[in-house]
Amino acid sequence: MPCSITSSAKISQFSAFKVFDKMPGLTLGDKLPNLEVETTQGKIKLHDYVGDSYTIIFSHPGDFTPVCTTELGMMAAYADKFAERGVKLLGLSCDDVNSHNEWIKDIEVFNNGHKVTYPIAADPKREIIKKLNMVDPEDTQSPSRALHVVGPDKKIKLSFLYPASTGRNMDEVVRVLDSLMKASKHNIATPANWNPGEPVVIAPSVSNEEAKKMFPQGFDTADLPSGKDYLRFTNV
Ligand code: BEZ
Repeated sequence: MPCSITSSAKISQFSAFKVFDKMPGLTLGDKLPNLEVETTQGKIKLHDYVGDSYTIIFSHPGDFTPVCTTELGMMAAYADKFAERGVKLLGLSCDDVNSHNEWIKDIEVFNNGHKVTYPIAADPKREIIKKLNMVDPEDTQSPSRALHVVGPDKKIKLSFLYPASTGRNMDEVVRVLDSLMKASKHNIATPANWNPGEPVVIAPSVSNEEAKKMFPQGFDTADLPSGKDYLRFTNV
């Protein structure tokens, strides 16, 4: 019997292509492209900038826009928290460096004089946002509020994609960095609403025997109706 595609299969194939079409290039585990970008602090090659540090690359729809002015200012206000963790910052907005330099004056005054000490990349032709997967999927000409955490190995560890209408919460950016750094150091993961100092969970790949050796401080296993012992908390 000849193989035929039913109309619903055709539709779902078509939708899969549409979804794929919109699907971003750069995602978790991918290597950051080593682009050369113009910034308010001169030309930089992305890999040189990341060096051996965790780096946050965050995009903005445009200069002299209200939400972006609050976000870049809040990043400036949080600069010490990122520096304490050895984390570098790189902003990006789709205007040129002259415009960025003018805009920085507004950002600093509006945000109580906190200095914008991190570079802001220029992308007036909207080329970088495409290569870094920072485009708004609903309006491919516009950048979204995208944020990538890049690890010292230059790979993407975490990404946020917010629409232009929603400003980001910098406490959440700090919190996820703390989680990423802790998880990379120990064989653990952080549970919902976790904050530093709170118990973490032991990765499912670690057996109880291994956990006893890896976590000599001990661990508590949740008593669950299934009787399974997969939810184990410890402190690291
Ligand atoms: C803003 O930064 O306020 C903004 C930018 C583009 C669209 C909507 C808001």
